[in-house]
Amino acid sequence: MAKITVSLIKADVGSVAGHTTVHEKLIATAQRKLDEAREAGLIIDFFVTHVGDDLELLLTHTKGVDNEEIHELAWNTFKAAADVAKELKLYGAGQDLLSDAFSGNVRGLGPGVAEMEFTPRRSEPIIAIMMDKTEPGAFNYPIFKIFADPFNTAGLVIDPKMHQGFVFEIWDIIEHRRVFMNVPEEMYDILALIGAKGRFVIKRVYPKEGSPLPKDEPVAVISTEKLFFIKGEYVGKDDPVALVRSQSGLPATGEILEPFAFPYLVSGWMRGSHNGPLMPVSLKDAMCTRFDGPPRVLALGFNLADGKLIGPVDFFADPAYNTTRTIANLIATYMRLHGPFEPHRLPSEEMEYTTLPKVLEQIKDRFESIE
Ligand code: 13P
Ligand code: 13P
Ligand code: MG
Ligand code: MG
Repeated sequence: MAKITVSLIKADVGSVAGHTTVHEKLIATAQRKLDEAREAGLIIDFFVTHVGDDLELLLTHTKGVDNEEIHELAWNTFKAAADVAKELKLYGAGQDLLSDAFSGNVRGLGPGVAEMEFTPRRSEPIIAIMMDKTEPGAFNYPIFKIFADPFNTAGLVIDPKMHQGFVFEIWDIIEHRRVFMNVPEEMYDILALIGAKGRFVIKRVYPKEGSPLPKDEPVAVISTEKLFFIKGEYVGKDDPVALVRSQSGLPATGEILEPFAFPYLVSGWMRGSHNGPLMPVSLKDAMCTRFDGPPRVLALGFNLADGKLIGPVDFFADPAYNTTRTIANLIATYMRLHGPFEPHRLPSEEMEYTTLPKVLEQIKDRFESIE
């Protein structure tokens, strides 16, 4: 079987009545553009969706990762949707399109990208996980649980095909360097890094020696573009996406979804400046309202059939996540009661990228030294 590439590319190109949700006309515009590309044979299949104000394009093709034609297609699709957003005077029209011109690759231009090329197995289940009102480091906790925690993933203990563990590719997004580390052997060192989720982010996961899967083909990938490093000024947190393959030597779908049953705290929420619980939601509830949140995660499952996307299954529509949502809402209330105080508000270092320094600038001359 020839290799397939799955590309999940997202951007906020405008939303209705604040940073809440994507207008249906933007979805329809993206679908039309991608339908033309499918007719022309550039892509095999696609699925357009949204979580909160982020427009999400899921594409399958045979052109490999970082392909110029595919990235240009995504860029032109976002541009077309942004044009509609401008016509409708939507809020933040073109928010994540930081450049006027495409230059070979969408990375660095604003959109977030998670893509991987691999040899499909006889049955290839794949899960697209998309978050709004948070940052790429929000994936550290669930990805670690899925691929490294035996209390989460029973297969690590009882399935000989993954008992050997996995390889994590971790990026230092401040120093622009990366390291490959093994679980379970280097679990504590990995946690020493990725617990600092604003700086060290898991970029990819690979199978290890002993796995039936090819060692050089990723089994999970996370978008890591950092908008504030791209533009130099805060323009919203870069709401992240991930692709995770499941079953047959990989964590089962239920093992991949299980970490999201705990509404753990992530950074983002109102003005990209607050800690709050991550709430798993169905597509119907994938919009952000309460204090522009709370941060949300959507998970859609597909099977690949010769590159065609069979699905989706809207996993968090399951009432099994109702208790998680109730707890998330209680935590949201608890965190909100702190108002402008940390740790609800983010620590000062992260606020450097917001508009707070401009407020502090206005009072700086009134300080006098204390002897
Ligand atoms: P596979 O090894 O076929 O993925 O089965 C594991 C499983 O799904 C049990 O829940
Ligand atoms: P987005 O990053 O989702 O556009 O949200 C920005 C914001 O300021 C929310 O309050
Ligand atoms: Mg927005
Ligand atoms: Mg967003």
